[in-house]
Amino acid sequence: MVRKLLLTRRSPARWLLAALTAVAATAGVLPGTAHAAENVVGGTRAAQGEFPFMVRLSMGCGGALYSPRLVLTAAHCVSGTGTNTSITATLGVVDLQSSSRITVRSNYVYRAPGYNGNGKDWALIRLATPVTGLATLPIATTTAYDSGTFTVAGWGAAREGGAQQRYLLKATVPYVADATCDNSYPDLIPSDEICAGYTAGGVDTCQGDSGGPMFRRDASNAWIQVGIVSWGNGCARPNYPGVYTQVSTFASAIASAAASLGG
Ligand code: ARG
Repeated sequence: MVRKLLLTRRSPARWLLAALTAVAATAGVLPGTAHAAENVVGGTRAAQGEFPFMVRLSMGCGGALYSPRLVLTAAHCVSGTGTNTSITATLGVVDLQSSSRITVRSNYVYRAPGYNGNGKDWALIRLATPVTGLATLPIATTTAYDSGTFTVAGWGAAREGGAQQRYLLKATVPYVADATCDNSYPDLIPSDEICAGYTAGGVDTCQGDSGGPMFRRDASNAWIQVGIVSWGNGCARPNYPGVYTQVSTFASAIASAAASLGG
């Protein structure tokens, strides 16, 4: 990332304050300071229980709990449709090392029909046993919520080329209209994809966040999923927003697939 350090001359008192702040930030005790901003590109740590529907998948992707047995993720995170017992989902924790984490194996993967690497970037993973006691994340079924300010979260890289994270990070990013996003990405598929990010960059999802949800509050103040982390040019670069699967476009296909998988 991201925010340039101000390399100006400081008085001794200012220097001491800066040094102490740096130490405290490195120790992770000052959320919202430079250290926090170096985590999910431009994000901060999520609180335990804040996003109960967040799922970490063992292939290095994110996902969202769609129902007790189904995780919605990105098509590019899975290899195809069929029986698949190789994926482990970790749920219920912000700390992936927590002893209270829930881990469940997959037993089936459904990848969006016709997925070929362009658009249609969604898939459902069925868990071998249902996970109860965790709130699920409903998906947007109309375009009503396909604008505004979105929340993103994940255990992916905190900077372009950076390491995967132990603790769940979150950030907010504004909607970017297709016509604007298309200027950055001529390959954009406006019907299938929705963009979000700041013109100046600095805040974004990144590698390993793929498959995770982009969500916002609905009219009842409940979380609703509008996007799935899909791709971007690097991470948090100026004029290159993140590109997300436009969930509303695929809502009925996702619901039908979910029903065919047993809910
Ligand atoms: N494709 C990446 C993944 O597999 C996600 C990239 C998101 N990039 C971005 N700039 N928002 O994890």
